[in-house]
Formats: sequence, C-alpha cells, structure tokens
Amino acid sequence: MYNRKHIGIHEVVFGKDCTVVEPSNLYRCTLGDDVFVGPFVEIQSNVTIGNHCRIQSHSFICSLVTIGNHVFVGHGVMFINDTFSCGGPAQGNEQLWKKTVIENHVSIGSNATILPVHICSHVVIGAGAVVTKNITEPGVYAGNPAVKIR
Ligand SMILES: CC(C)(COP(=O)(O)OP(=O)(O)OC[C@H]1O[C@@H](n2cnc3c(N)ncnc32)[C@H](O)[C@@H]1OP(=O)(O)O)[C@@H](O)C(=O)NCCC(=O)NCCS
Repeated sequence: MYNRKHIGIHEVVFGKDCTVVEPSNLYRCTLGDDVFVGPFVEIQSNVTIGNHCRIQSHSFICSLVTIGNHVFVGHGVMFINDTFSCGGPAQGNEQLWKKTVIENHVSIGSNATILPVHICSHVVIGAGAVVTKNITEPGVYAGNPAVKIR
C-alpha cells in the first residue's frame, strides 16, 4: 500500500503567453507574462516569477523564492529554503524556511545551487556555482562558494 500523488499544474496564476513543458509540477505559484518552463521542473507554492523568464529543465524552485523579470534559470538549478538550521530538515516547520530574491536580468548557469540569498540585477552565476551569500554588485560569480570572477 502507498499513497499515490500525481504531478501536474495546480492553482497556478499565469500571465500571457506562458509555456510549460510537461511533465512538470507547479502548484500555488504565480508566473508573469512570457515565461517558459521546461520539462521536469518543480515550482512550489509561494513562488513568484516575473515576466520574460526562462526556467530550463530539471530545475527546482522551492517555496519563498521570488524571481524578477528577464531571468534565465539554467538546467538543474536548485534553490534551497531549508538550511538545516536546527541540525536537520525542518520537516514541515515552515517558520524555519528562508526566502530568496532574484532581481532582474539575472542568468543562472546549469547545476547551480542557490541558498537563501538576495541577488541583485545584472548578475551571471556560473555553472555549478554554490551561492551562499547575498550578491549586491552586478558581475559574474562562480565556484563553491561563489565569488566574483569579473
Ligand atoms: C561563469 C561563466 C559565465 C564565465 O564565463 P567567462 O567569463 O567566459 O569565463 P572564462 O571561461 O574566461 O573563465 C574565467 C575563469 O573562471 C573559471 N570559470 C569559468 N566558469 C566557471 C564555473 N562555472 N565555475 C568555476 N570556475 C569557472 C575558469 O576556469 C577561468 O579560471 P582561470 O582564470 O583560473 O583560468 C561561464 O563559464 C559559465 O559557467 N556559464 C554558465 C553557462 C550555462 O550554464 N548555461 C546554461 C545553458 S546551456
């Protein structure tokens, strides 16, 4: 015996001209105009994505992430809201979850991991980067932990 749940698109607010390639799992989130979501993406509740954004396949956008306009999220990008601050998973204690804000014209390379941070506009994040701190200056950031490379 097991509980069977289906992925799908539930209670999502879409702007104009959005595309979602299925299977993807989107629920209780808001997408602006002209947003593309590739296959095998999960976008959780309380996520807001602005206009003209592209979310490539296999990315995970967790609750409490806010994304601005003209943002590119590469393949397999992982956002994090639970930092295991109590020594392990918060296990449903949403009070422990932290938010992430991505401003406008940000490009996030494939396989990057974004901890709960604020990233200002006009930033490029390299493939495989691990962003552990706020980014407050435009530029190109790469590595683990991500640092400004130019
Ligand atoms: C970060 C990035 C934008 C830098 O590009 P660039 O400015 O042309 O940089 P370069 O290739 O000249 O590399 C500059 C230095 O950074 C290093 N570097 C480049 N990308 C890196 C990355 N992702 N992680 C760690 N270091 C990186 C290079 O090894 C080089 O180091 P060196 O000076 O010691 O030789 C690019 O490498 C990248 O990761 N782009 C992401 C692309 C992507 O994921 N697209 C998704 C759609 S397919």
